[in-house]
Amino acid sequence: MSRRILVTGGLGFIGLQLCKQLLINDSHTDLTIIDNLSSTRLNYSELEGRARILIADMRTFDEHESRFDDIYHLASPVGSLGILEKNGYIATDITDLANKAAALATASGAQLLYLSSSEVYGRDGQHAESKELIVPAKRGARMEYSLGKLTAEHILFNLAMEERFNVRVVRPFNVAGQWQSAQLGFVIPKFFEAAISGAPLSIYGNGKQRRSFCHVSDLANGVIAVQNDAPADQVYNVGNPNNVTTIEQLAHTIRDQCGSNSLIQYVDPYKLHGSRFIEAFDKIPDITKLTSYSDWRPQLNLAKTLHVIHSFYTEQQLGNAASPTNTTKHMKDPVLA
Ligand SMILES: NC(=O)c1ccc[n+]([C@@H]2O[C@H](COP(=O)([O-])OP(=O)(O)OC[C@H]3O[C@@H](n4cnc5c(N)ncnc54)[C@H](O)[C@@H]3O)[C@@H](O)[C@H]2O)c1
Repeated sequence: MSRRILVTGGLGFIGLQLCKQLLINDSHTDLTIIDNLSSTRLNYSELEGRARILIADMRTFDEHESRFDDIYHLASPVGSLGILEKNGYIATDITDLANKAAALATASGAQLLYLSSSEVYGRDGQHAESKELIVPAKRGARMEYSLGKLTAEHILFNLAMEERFNVRVVRPFNVAGQWQSAQLGFVIPKFFEAAISGAPLSIYGNGKQRRSFCHVSDLANGVIAVQNDAPADQVYNVGNPNNVTTIEQLAHTIRDQCGSNSLIQYVDPYKLHGSRFIEAFDKIPDITKLTSYSDWRPQLNLAKTLHVIHSFYTEQQLGNAASPTNTTKHMKDPVLA
């Protein structure tokens, strides 16, 4: 019998890709998606008729209404700029949603997978799951997000023990792909949109901070591999450690790729966004743990990832994109607005 699967936040950037992948893996999957469309609005018409789509806050979902084998919990405030307006309420939101996900898993006896964040590592470098976590002496929205995600992990591990459901936690590192929102603060769409429109590409600080970007399709497959192949009650990094770049290199690569004459400028993010904003350090995943349990390996290198995203923008400009979104609303770099 096909699995009954619930995806919370399933109409978001990662959620849509995850849902599509779940249906590709088994077209008979009994898929339910709940999403309150509080983030970027993406076109989900591809999923209509193939999944039960509930447009609602997941906290209103009656846990006794349906039974699930698997729950993927993705719903969350997201993005370095997306979370700014929720400052002071970010952690409460994240932990409330984790409690609800646990109630849903308890009612169904479902195995729960939670998308936490690499932000919980809180410091520079390459991160393995076994590393001690250090709370940086910083204040701002990003710290609240990071601590909210870490608290949610602990809430879920503790409730899983009490209520006897299985939980797995994924800590995604930087994700990239078509349909990612510039408005939420993600750097790759911000650079593409600036380069294409001739606006300056704004680098925060000196641009030497490093990121390693994982294409969203690789991320979605990694998340499914954790749920299906890896032992429960543990944390797994998912990302692509081979796609390291500095933000400065990334700006030059994207500008060249677009054949753009845009200026590359160095800006102080704290002047732009105020003290609620915190810029991140170097973030590189160590995925040894997941690869020891699973055959999953990220497939798309950085050049291919950027190529796919560039083609997407070209298609959009030509009006041929497969699933139009409201990203045109985001074409203006909010940093420069
Ligand atoms: N994008 C990244 O680089 C990244 C990195 C690390 C972790 N994550 C985590 O991955 C998950 C998905 O992120 P994303 O990038 O797809 O963001 P997204 O904003 O595109 O998706 C999140 C979805 O959750 C929905 N949502 C939020 N609150 C809700 C609620 N109360 N009820 C129902 N739906 C709700 C939003 O409408 C949105 O569609 C999040 O948990 C995020 O913290 C993302």
